[in-house]
Amino acid sequence: MERVSTALGMPTVLPPGRPVGARPDGLADQFGRRATDLRLSLTDKCNLRCSYCMPADGLAWLKRERLLSADEIARLVRIGVDELGVRELRLTGGEPLVRADLVDIVARLRAAHPDLPISLTTNGVGLAGKAKALAEAGLTRLNVSMDTLHPGTFAELTRRPFLDQVLAGIEAADAAGLRPLKINAVLMRGVNDAHAAELLGWCLDRGHELRFIEQMPLDADHGWTRDGMVTAAETRALLGSDFALSADPRERDGAPAERFEVRRHGSPVLLGTVGIIASVTEPFCADCRRTRITAEGKVMSCLFSRTEVDLLGLLRSGAADSDVAARWRAAMWAKPKAHGMGHPGLGDADFVQPDRSMSAIGG
Ligand code: 5AD
Ligand code: SF4
Repeated sequence: MERVSTALGMPTVLPPGRPVGARPDGLADQFGRRATDLRLSLTDKCNLRCSYCMPADGLAWLKRERLLSADEIARLVRIGVDELGVRELRLTGGEPLVRADLVDIVARLRAAHPDLPISLTTNGVGLAGKAKALAEAGLTRLNVSMDTLHPGTFAELTRRPFLDQVLAGIEAADAAGLRPLKINAVLMRGVNDAHAAELLGWCLDRGHELRFIEQMPLDADHGWTRDGMVTAAETRALLGSDFALSADPRERDGAPAERFEVRRHGSPVLLGTVGIIASVTEPFCADCRRTRITAEGKVMSCLFSRTEVDLLGLLRSGAADSDVAARWRAAMWAKPKAHGMGHPGLGDADFVQPDRSMSAIGG
């Protein structure tokens, strides 16, 4: 039987003998995008309760047997890399550091994929004790989420008094050579927005790359409002009190963050850069290269997707790699064009908030 690929609407005959899952077009979708960046969630659990993500009382955690095991993670990453064109891996949560086997998972993935960039997004709690082991296991990069340098504000925002641990974690990661470190911050009006410039100054002094992310409607409490969100434009204005920002001339290359060079007003000295991720007001869906797998092994083609495609059941039913790859491809083929907020012709009315919060999807 002749096998035909219909990626990009162009039927092409595949070379004979290739496994069905191993299409040359990888994780393509109907709109001409190709996902090469895999975000894999290791757990839905978290030790913070950030108001833009989790409810104060937490969520019902998944039972351990419903989570991807280290073996299953290794297999999915292998299928992604070997058969589907995945070129970059980001490990997320919940909080990935709460997984006891995290360092082993990184070491194993590194042994199987010597050249794959493997990064980790963490809230930094407990990082101080693990940073060196993670670096030795072969982690490439770290993103630490930290929204403020003020202990009281941190405790208000995350509902936990752990800022000191996060700061110690950042220092340990830096000392372990996991540089340049990226710091993620979400600004909340009237909570930490007044601290934006101070946080940037702190990061610039230490050589960390700060990125502000517009608050997305992915909180478990469904409390997001457009008016409550601090926009990318407002963030630029807030930083303008202390710094002069100018567009970074480097190619954006599919990166969601718009990068700015940072200088003091009236000074030619380049202090560093800052990224602003305008997920809501200036969406970058047309350039999206992400494919996500939740901690329970479901493909989500988009953060805002309301459709999930299960791979874990397939893995556990003894399916061949080619079957897993085919289902993953099919899930990505159906990736929506855009998330429905802030796109011309698509008003908020077309947007339905997903049932899962950020912690249950993986950032
Ligand atoms: N909007 C924007 N960013 C969010 N994050 C968590 N929830 C939201 C949200 N509702 C961020 C975290 C972390 C990353 C994984 O996602 O701060 O940096
Ligand atoms: Fe935890 Fe990250 Fe959600 Fe905060 S944003 S509650 S650190 S998963």
